[in-house]
Amino acid sequence: MRTYLVTGGAGFIGSNYIHYMFKKYDNEIRIINVDKLTYAGNLENLKDIENRENYTFIKADICDSEAIGKIFAENDIDRVVHFAAESHVDRSIKNPEVFVQTNVLGTAVMLNAAKAAWELPDGTFRPDKKFLHVSTDEVYGSLPDDDSAFFYETSPIDPHSPYSASKASSDMLVKAYIDTYHFPANITNCSNNYGPYQFPEKLIPLIINNALQGKNLPVYGDGKNVRDWLYVEDHAKAIDMVQEQGKLGERYNIGGHNEKQNIEIIHIILETLQEMLPEGDPRKELVSEKLITYVTDRKGHDRRYAIAPDKIKAEIGWYPETMFKDGIKLTIAWFFEHEDWMKNVTSGDYQKYYTDMYKDR
Ligand code: NAD
Ligand code: TYD
Repeated sequence: MRTYLVTGGAGFIGSNYIHYMFKKYDNEIRIINVDKLTYAGNLENLKDIENRENYTFIKADICDSEAIGKIFAENDIDRVVHFAAESHVDRSIKNPEVFVQTNVLGTAVMLNAAKAAWELPDGTFRPDKKFLHVSTDEVYGSLPDDDSAFFYETSPIDPHSPYSASKASSDMLVKAYIDTYHFPANITNCSNNYGPYQFPEKLIPLIINNALQGKNLPVYGDGKNVRDWLYVEDHAKAIDMVQEQGKLGERYNIGGHNEKQNIEIIHIILETLQEMLPEGDPRKELVSEKLITYVTDRKGHDRRYAIAPDKIKAEIGWYPETMFKDGIKLTIAWFFEHEDWMKNVTSGDYQKYYTDMYKDR
């Protein structure tokens, strides 16, 4: 039975990945989820699997080399899937330091612990041990508005925000381990994800949540920045496929072939909410285009991201399966069914975050 060490499994993509893996492999695998439970980590995301015998949660900081070393010493880890990170660009602009701490130092700790556990006396690695570093397309910087340009694995690394700079640095560390030690790792660079369990600091869940309450929908700048949206379950599938079928040492871009301007996303959400809310539901009156509010742009706002997922398709056979029109319905349906989840994550600290982040815009 393969043992996975998943970092950041209580966050958005990590929890979707854990659900996906148990759906796919059931009792054939064991998962140890290591998470510090920052504001973004939520054990409610894993409630339905927490009692499985082949699942263990450990609360730990990936920067704590002793705690991470102990997990490797006590478990024969076969796969590391490294999600844990500070993930929000706006927070990174306000407070870059914690991004360097978790994203760079934390990745160094994870690499070091895996290397120590997996390395043989002759400097090679125990067979069939693999580390996958989950990264972002934001490391490639920004594309011009022209829709013929895409990010490829060979595109120059050119991050702009403290978040993307910290992720690019962590990618470089993984690359250094691959190049120096032939460490058995892959890097994946994925475009923007959306779906269940996404924290409402990110565009899509924030717009859904605000619209349902009749609150302003803040659009940064001219609303024409483009992101390439991928349904999170497609990302989870890609990660598993890269880890099992990818060529060790290689980087793979993962993208949705689904580029949209932010303002288009907002219109689609508003239309879909109207379609899905039943007649007589009082929220139907609140959801309106009138809520759209143009606000001061994000500093250093990247204009356009777009991935050409040609390599992963050609080498591994992965492609984005969920059309945006379907994925957004699944996402909205999930939020309708999980009103308590949204209430819980938006109580307390979130209100303060929202006021601080949006007060000067
Ligand atoms: P998230 O913010 O929802 O979750 C991050 C998780 O990491 C949380 O559970 C948090 O508690 C945990 N964590 C943070 N600091 C930690 C620490 N020091 N030690 C242990 N755990 C810690 O993030 P997400 O959106 O799920 O992103 C997961 C990964 O995927 C990140 O590495 C991110 O860079 C990458 N990524 C995200 C997207 C996206 O659209 N969200 C796209 C591409 C890549
Ligand atoms: P976000 O979800 O923060 O992801 P990222 O910055 O990592 O791409 O933002 C997606 C896009 O939406 C980005 O261009 C910024 C924009 N945006 C807004 O216009 N308003 C908002 O309130 C937020 C959170 C984002």
